[in-house]
Amino acid sequence: MMEAKSFQLFPDQASTIAGHVDALYAFLVLVSAFFSLLIAFLVVYLAVKYRHRPETGPPVPHESGGHGAGGMILEIVWTIIPLGISMIMFAWGVSIYFTESRPPADSMEIYVTGKQWMWKIQHMEGAREINELHIPINRDIKLTMTSEDVIHDFYVPAFRTKSDVLPGKYTTEWFKATKLGAYHIFCAEYCGTKHSGMIGTVYVMTEADYNKWLGEGSGEGSMAEQGQSLFNQLGCGNCHPSVVNNLNGRCPNLVGLFGSRVQLKDGSNVRADESYIRESVLYPQSKIVAGYDDIMPTFKGLISEDGMLKLISYIRSLGAPNGTVTTATPLPVETSASPRPSTHAVNGAAPPAGARGGAPTAPAAPQPRIQ
Ligand code: CUA
Repeated sequence: MMEAKSFQLFPDQASTIAGHVDALYAFLVLVSAFFSLLIAFLVVYLAVKYRHRPETGPPVPHESGGHGAGGMILEIVWTIIPLGISMIMFAWGVSIYFTESRPPADSMEIYVTGKQWMWKIQHMEGAREINELHIPINRDIKLTMTSEDVIHDFYVPAFRTKSDVLPGKYTTEWFKATKLGAYHIFCAEYCGTKHSGMIGTVYVMTEADYNKWLGEGSGEGSMAEQGQSLFNQLGCGNCHPSVVNNLNGRCPNLVGLFGSRVQLKDGSNVRADESYIRESVLYPQSKIVAGYDDIMPTFKGLISEDGMLKLISYIRSLGAPNGTVTTATPLPVETSASPRPSTHAVNGAAPPAGARGGAPTAPAAPQPRIQ
């Protein structure tokens, strides 16, 4: 198996963003070096040039106090130039930040849970791994991450990307690997005694190798399927309908929920994303859906963070607004058993879960941009 390289002064450039980050970094270093040298030179040069000489006597103040027209121009110049340079750094940095903070809509989704002191990773298809992340090359990968305890930070230097991993909240990180190989994962936030040991390896594989690797999976079914058994185990289905047209009126129907706007009792509305679902399961009283009563018990302490991600995958697999599945990975939904809005047929024709790379990436049907 590939091994992550040992010490390097500069990590590989293994993602689409890496070159951009390095270019900005080089610019910052060059600007800093230029001004450091300029200032050091002027300190020495001016000290020598204007040194005290006994024959000239004491220095005489400038008549206008040093604030003539020349002084004014000098002040303007040395204000405008640094302002311009720092604005270049700002705009450049912001553009990279925007790119890094907004995962492309059709990214492949992978879930990460940090805990003292390991990384637990779940793939939609059901494969799970610890301190290892297998990904295909040249695919946008979006990590949705949370922590079971304290703040961690998922950092892959070769991809030039990192993001805090927080308890009680989902954060995301995305990248597109451009080079096959094995790269370090580090925890970049001090999280306790073994923080420095909270490391792992990303394996960037060809699409074919990745699918082969996925095929060797756990046999526990996809995340959505595992989420469905959890859903049944916890008895969620006793109240929440999860099939089309099976309305029982007491609890909100979960079909088509994910990604939609939910009207709340207090008149406001909220987008049904991962965080909303998590909050609704753990703190059901915090956001009551309009037209429903505050009758749901909390499931706090009954679901692990990993389990929560599975539940979310299941709810997500129940469709999004307009009946489209929200991920690039088609999930197993019983299209024949449950009548669905006709727009779904477009996506329903996609290959079933697990067949991701079997067919050469067929262009997915246009999907609404959810995030
Ligand atoms: Cu986890 Cu440092």
